[in-house]
Amino acid sequence: MSAITRISACQVLDSRGYPTLQVEVFSKKGYGKALAPSGASTGKHEAVELRDGGKKFEGKGVQKAIANVLGPIAKALKGLDVQKQEEIDQLLCSLDGTPNKSRLGANATTAVSLAVAQCAASESKVGLYRALGRRPLLPCPFLNVINGGKHSGSGLSIQEFMLVPAGFAKFSDAIFAAAEVYHSLGRIVARKYGKIFVGLGDEGGFAPPCKSAQDALSLLEEAVSESGYSGRMKFAIDAAASSFYNPDSKSYAVDGKVFSCQELHDFYVWLASSYPIVSIEDPFEEDSFEDFALLRKKLVGKAQIVGDDLFVTNAARIEIGIKKRSASALLLKVNQVGTLTEALQAAKLCHENKMGVIVSHRSGETEDSAIADIAVGIGCGQIKAGAPARSERTAKYNRLLQIEQESGCKFAGGSRLVL
Ligand code: PGA
Ligand code: ZN
Repeated sequence: MSAITRISACQVLDSRGYPTLQVEVFSKKGYGKALAPSGASTGKHEAVELRDGGKKFEGKGVQKAIANVLGPIAKALKGLDVQKQEEIDQLLCSLDGTPNKSRLGANATTAVSLAVAQCAASESKVGLYRALGRRPLLPCPFLNVINGGKHSGSGLSIQEFMLVPAGFAKFSDAIFAAAEVYHSLGRIVARKYGKIFVGLGDEGGFAPPCKSAQDALSLLEEAVSESGYSGRMKFAIDAAASSFYNPDSKSYAVDGKVFSCQELHDFYVWLASSYPIVSIEDPFEEDSFEDFALLRKKLVGKAQIVGDDLFVTNAARIEIGIKKRSASALLLKVNQVGTLTEALQAAKLCHENKMGVIVSHRSGETEDSAIADIAVGIGCGQIKAGAPARSERTAKYNRLLQIEQESGCKFAGGSRLVL
């Protein structure tokens, strides 16, 4: 046992230039640091961030969350055994006392929980991935290379168009091949739309003024073919459909058209038969368990259906999804639920029910690379961490390259996709 001796916290910047928290945890024999990420297309059922409000930083300051870390959280955690992650996270939940972490702030609890995990791993002088699991596996990356929705001004309704380099033997081969495709894509965008449109969205992908999802997917096909990786590079989309859903008319506005739920369903089926799409995330708005289930069933053997805003990494919502067979996989984000233990329990629940898990970044990120270790440690075989560019994204991929080098872990390739 090694007791927590000190916890410190300060306000730092995230990748969008907004304030976020950095937390440091010191124990007698160890040290851990974590930074809280932040979403833009957040689900309405997520645990909530605590922001200061007011005029400064558009109300996005985190001094109140920092005060919670330095005050009640530090007081409760000092002297506890840093290795007892579950007890510490349980204490964070009861100290907060709300169903959505709104008192302490999920940004505060997430950064504390992850800093505790890093501190505990540092005591045993192993990487966090080793502390988290016995059967580490390098995950297949999902690289968001065309950004739409709330993450860019491209005008595309679908939020993310991703490369999935499933047909490679090693993680390093997969990630460098994806980087080559990314550069081909940049050249094609410049050729087709002009250099002025080689700007990037929040997750490092290009944001060309495509007219439709079909245009975006055709650009991806062209870039893959120009790089010589046809067949080895699959595609994934995150529709983030709540962002284009109209609850009054129960319809979806996609690339200038208005779709009923059935029409949107048929549109996805058509996309999946026209392009090598192996994964579709949040195809319908965030409470449509039944609509998810119909599409999952229709695309069995072709594409996995992933719940992000649908599940918000919350065990109770995942239970509903299991009963209704809504999705084949969970998108796991620690800050959607607020502690590492709760996120790991959500992953376990999915694995026990033969669902896949994709560990995920947020659109507002930092240099913290813990999600790389979490993905390897739980052996889920899939990670979504943005484009192969911009340091807040490459921090995760570079950590995976380092893990590959030091551990010789196997690469999942496409083996953990739940098709
Ligand atoms: P967010 O988007 O981090 O802005 O919520 C990521 C996603 O929808 O997967
Ligand atoms: Zn999503």
